Amino acid sequence: MTGNRDILIVGAGLAGLFLALKLAPRRCTVIALAPLGQAAASAWAQGGMAAALSADDNPELHAADTIAAGAGIVDPVVAQMIAENGPARVRDLLAMGVPFDRTPNGDLALSLEAAHSHPRVARVAGDLAGKAIMEALALAVAAAGHIELIDGVRALALLQDASGRIGGVLAQGPSGDAEEIYARETILCAGGSGGLYAITTNPKSSQGDAIAMAYRAGALVADPEFVQFHPTAIDIGRDPAPLATEALRGEGAKLVDRNGRAFMCDYHPDCELAPRDEVARAIHAERAAGRGAFLDCRAAVGDHFPEHFPTVFGACMSAGIDPRTAPIPVAPAMHYHMGGVASDLWGRTTLEGLSVCGESASTGAHGGNRLASNSLLEAVVFAERIARRLKDATLGEPGTATADTPVELPAEDLNELRKRMHSEAGVIRNAAGLGMTLDWLRDARKRVGWSRPLATAQLIVEAALARKESRGGHFRSDYPTSIAPERTFLRLGPDGAPITSHAKPEEPAE
Ligand code: SIN
Repeated sequence: MTGNRDILIVGAGLAGLFLALKLAPRRCTVIALAPLGQAAASAWAQGGMAAALSADDNPELHAADTIAAGAGIVDPVVAQMIAENGPARVRDLLAMGVPFDRTPNGDLALSLEAAHSHPRVARVAGDLAGKAIMEALALAVAAAGHIELIDGVRALALLQDASGRIGGVLAQGPSGDAEEIYARETILCAGGSGGLYAITTNPKSSQGDAIAMAYRAGALVADPEFVQFHPTAIDIGRDPAPLATEALRGEGAKLVDRNGRAFMCDYHPDCELAPRDEVARAIHAERAAGRGAFLDCRAAVGDHFPEHFPTVFGACMSAGIDPRTAPIPVAPAMHYHMGGVASDLWGRTTLEGLSVCGESASTGAHGGNRLASNSLLEAVVFAERIARRLKDATLGEPGTATADTPVELPAEDLNELRKRMHSEAGVIRNAAGLGMTLDWLRDARKRVGWSRPLATAQLIVEAALARKESRGGHFRSDYPTSIAPERTFLRLGPDGAPITSHAKPEEPAE
């Protein structure tokens, strides 16, 4: 495993594999936690990929929906760029063998999801888009001679030379020993942070590693307080929680309380198709009031459930709930981190030799509330741009780069952290709960040492405390209105605490 590489991709989800394929014929190495498809949240994506593909839709409308959903802080340039590139990237995936659903006349079948003004979500066999995309990419990677894939490896820290340039990663392989993998360019495609929360739809291994590693090396981090809670995780006591895709509400499924009363129109004029943060808060409120929350798909999907939504059907049936005849119990769950390592339009971070892509990045595309099915889109659009930038680039040699080995957070501390993040940095936040959580995180760090989950959790909590307003997925019960439409940028300060600002640094000249 150890040795010198040219381009090193950390993570084998959609962003990492699409990037590796697009780099051809330039050689690259992908390191992955587990064999392909086994630890990537991308494979669990049920919705699909949003792109303006129908005759009555266009990228301007898609960008406008992205900006409107994002609660005032989407970067409009990024929104327009991903919307414009979307159709071409869907065509790339079709060419790689992804069997997107078709209408009887052969056009792509496009679904409506919340806060989209047009049906524009390309899906596969109902709720199997992520799985089908990852299977097609895994086959393409296996056949690609330019990609070296090493699995069973976890990146622990970024190797950095005296000038600050990143020169690869310190990684732990199957032997358990930490080894250096040097590289001219390192791209973090290491997924999100759902595993920092007690209730999540992400793999438990998604613990914000990319943010923590990049932050420790001095990279700028953006918008960590913006966590997206999916409104309808299936509440059957599983960890991670299975998802009931938003497409069910697109098909007409209703959210009801335990007496069967539909409640969403009490909260928002768009009822079940309101933006995701609004629906998550409504469900949270119904549950907190003791009325419970259930997704009633009986009229909208009924007997078609097994063929139209096989993943959701299987999850429900495995818990003894037949969604054809009974409403599905649901709860909000940490689903997607809008915050991440700050990236420019070409996936560059603020550190030489380090790029970022996918959920690990904060590009400005999602603002305070990501539009449904824009995450797979953002991942492939930025992956293609990073590949275009690096494919023929002359990259610097890694100097003498080193890294400190972080400590592993003991399991009991991780469990405690997950509970505290869920209850105090969750759907509803306030100064008292966030402050107590910050104290706990600081104490844990003194006791345990520098660990990645503690670092990323601390960034989320510090930024949530500092944002004294409510916006998108960040709702403060003590500051319930929106005041300042600004993004948050944080970097490691000299005393070890983050320095916060609201101005995005200049993009480097092309
Ligand atoms: C869903 O299918 O509801 C999730 C899609 C997404 O997170 O974009």
